[in-house]
Amino acid sequence: MNITSLLPSDKLAPAGRWTGFQPFNFVGGHNDASFVPSQAFQASVSRALETDGHRLAAYNLGDGPLGHLGLRQFIAGMLHRRAGMSCSEDDVLIVSGSLQALDLVNQTMLRPGDTVLIEASTYAGVMSRLDRMGVHYHGVPLDDDGMDITALASLLEELASQNIRPRYLYTIPSVQNPTGSVMPQERRKQILKLAQRYNVPLFEDDCYSDLVWEGDRPATFYGLADGKGVIYCGSFSKSLAPALRVGYLVAPWEVLSHILPYKTDAGSGALEQMVLADFCPEHYEDHVTALTQHLAQKCDIICAALDRYFGASADYKRPKGGIFVWVTLPSHVDSVKLAKLAGADGISINPGPDWSIAPEAPHQFRLCFGYPDAAIIEEGVMRLANICQQEFGVPLAIDNI
Ligand SMILES: Cc1ncc(COP(=O)(O)O)c(C=O)c1O
Repeated sequence: MNITSLLPSDKLAPAGRWTGFQPFNFVGGHNDASFVPSQAFQASVSRALETDGHRLAAYNLGDGPLGHLGLRQFIAGMLHRRAGMSCSEDDVLIVSGSLQALDLVNQTMLRPGDTVLIEASTYAGVMSRLDRMGVHYHGVPLDDDGMDITALASLLEELASQNIRPRYLYTIPSVQNPTGSVMPQERRKQILKLAQRYNVPLFEDDCYSDLVWEGDRPATFYGLADGKGVIYCGSFSKSLAPALRVGYLVAPWEVLSHILPYKTDAGSGALEQMVLADFCPEHYEDHVTALTQHLAQKCDIICAALDRYFGASADYKRPKGGIFVWVTLPSHVDSVKLAKLAGADGISINPGPDWSIAPEAPHQFRLCFGYPDAAIIEEGVMRLANICQQEFGVPLAIDNI
C-alpha cells in the first residue's frame, strides 16, 4: 500500500531532510552556545529530580493543566517586577515554546476567512500560520518606534467601513522581529486607545523583551491595559535556550479558560519546567543581564562587519536588543536571489519577503547574530558582501574585501 497516495490533497508540503546548519548560520532564533548555563542547569536537574522526581508519575506533576506551579509563580513575579504586569500564577499557562501560544490563540480566535492585523514586517512563523489557516492579514507599516499610529488608525477605519473587525492585532513591541525596534511607552498607550476604540484585542508577543540593552524597557501592553483586551506570550527560548521548549501564555482566566481546551498534549515537558523552577529564582536575573551585555557586543561586531564590507549600501538601524539586524540594500538587489546564492556558499540568511509584506521587503534581509561566533560573523558578512557585489554590483567598491 502506498500511504502517500492516500493522503488528503490539502496536506502540507512534505518536509525536506535535515542536512545540518550551514557553516555561516545567520538564521533562526538560536542562542549563543557559550551562554547556556549548563553547570547551573546540571545542579538544578539533580536537585529537581532528588526532591520532585517522584512527581513525574502524574501528568503535569499533579499541578493541573496550567503547568508547574512553582514555575508559574516565578513567571508571575518576574512579569510583575520586570514588565509592570499584575497577573497571578493562575493567569499563566506553560506552553511548549511561544510557538504553541501562537497556535493556541489562533485556534481559539481564528477561523478561515477572518482578518487580523500584523506589523508589516513580522515573525515569519506568524504569517505562515495565518496562511495555513486561510486567515487574511493586513500589515501595519513600521517606523523606528514600531507601528505607525496614523497608518494603523486609517487601516482600522477602512476595515470598519467595510464592516470588518480584525480578530486581533499581533505585535512584537519590544525588540520587534525583524526590525529590532522597541516601541516607546507613549506609542503603546496610543495604540491601546485605538485598539479599544475599534474593539480589537491585542496579541502581544514579548519573547525578546528580557534582551533589551538600549534604553528602559517600557511597560507591556498587558500591564498598561491591566490585562483587559490583551493576550500576552513570552518564552525562555531567547533568554535561556530554545531547545528547552518552554514558553508561557498570560491572560485573565475568563480568556485563558477558553484557550486551555485547545492544549491537547496533556502538558508540556515537565522535567524542563522542574529545572527552570529550580534555576530561575536564583539565577535568571544575573543570567539575562550577562547574556544581554554579551549580545550587545555581538551586535557591535555584526554592525561593524556590515559597515566594513557593505559600506553605505547597507542601510540598517542598530537594534535595541535581541539577536538580529534587519538590512535594506539598494532596490535592484533581490534578497531572495542573494539568499540562494549565499546558501550555495554555506551562508544562510533570511530574505526579506519571508519576514515582511512591506514594499521594500524584496531588497531586505535579516541576519541573526546570537548563534555564530565573532570570527564566523566577520567572515560570513565578508563573503555575503562579496557575493552581493558579484551578482548585483553592491557594494560598489570591494577594496577591503
Ligand atoms: C517573535 C517570535 N515569536 C515566537 C517565536 C517562537 O519562539 P519559541 O517557540 O521558541 O518560544 C520566535 C522565534 O524566533 C519569535 O521570533
